[in-house]
Amino acid sequence: MTQSLEIAVAKPGEAADFWKTNDRAWRTEAWAFKVVWHEQTHDITATIDGTIAGALNVRIAASLAHVEALYVLPAHRGNGIGRALLARCEEIANYYNCHKVSVAVMNASPALRFFLDSGYHVEAVLPQHTFKLDVAMVRKFLL
Ligand SMILES: CC(C)(COP(=O)(O)OP(=O)(O)OC[C@H]1O[C@@H](n2cnc3c(N)ncnc32)[C@H](O)[C@@H]1OP(=O)(O)O)[C@@H](O)C(=O)NCCC(=O)NCCS
Repeated sequence: MTQSLEIAVAKPGEAADFWKTNDRAWRTEAWAFKVVWHEQTHDITATIDGTIAGALNVRIAASLAHVEALYVLPAHRGNGIGRALLARCEEIANYYNCHKVSVAVMNASPALRFFLDSGYHVEAVLPQHTFKLDVAMVRKFLL
C-alpha cells in the first residue's frame, strides 16, 4: 500500500495532542537527558496600591531558570522594582535547585546594563538573532 506524506501548517491546537503525548520523548532525545522534566512557569508581580506596576515571568526546567519577560511600567522605573522582581525570581530558582538563571536581552541596551548591574554576565552575543538585532545571552550562577 502506498502512503501519502503531506506537510502542512496545522490549525491552532491541532498538534496539541501530539505534543502532549510526545513531550517527554522529544525533550529526552533532543537533549540526551533522561530524567523526568518538571517544567513550570511563575509570574512574580510588584503591586502598588492594588495595581500591578511591574511583572516578571520565569520558566523553570531541568535545574535552569529562564526569565521570559520582565517589564516595569515607565512611571515606576528607577525605584528598585526591577531588581526586587529579579531577586524574588532568583529565590524561587534557588528553591527549585536551579544552578543558573538566564535571560536574553538586546545587546548594548539599558536592559543589558540592568542585568550586568544585578550580577549577571554575558555568555554569548548572538548576531541578528531576534528581529535581526544582536541578542546578549546573560546568566547568573546561583550555586
Ligand atoms: C529593565 C527594567 C526592568 C528595569 O526596571 P527598574 O525597576 O527601572 O530597575 P531598578 O530600579 O530595579 O534598577 C536597578 C539597577 O539597574 C540599573 N538600571 C536600571 N535601568 C537602567 C537603565 N535604563 N540604564 C542603565 N542602568 C539601569 C541601575 O544600576 C539600577 O540601579 P540604581 O537605580 O541604583 O542606579 C525596566 O527598565 C524595563 O521594564 N524595561 C523595558 C523592558 C525590558 O527591557 N525588559 C528586560 C528584558 S526581559
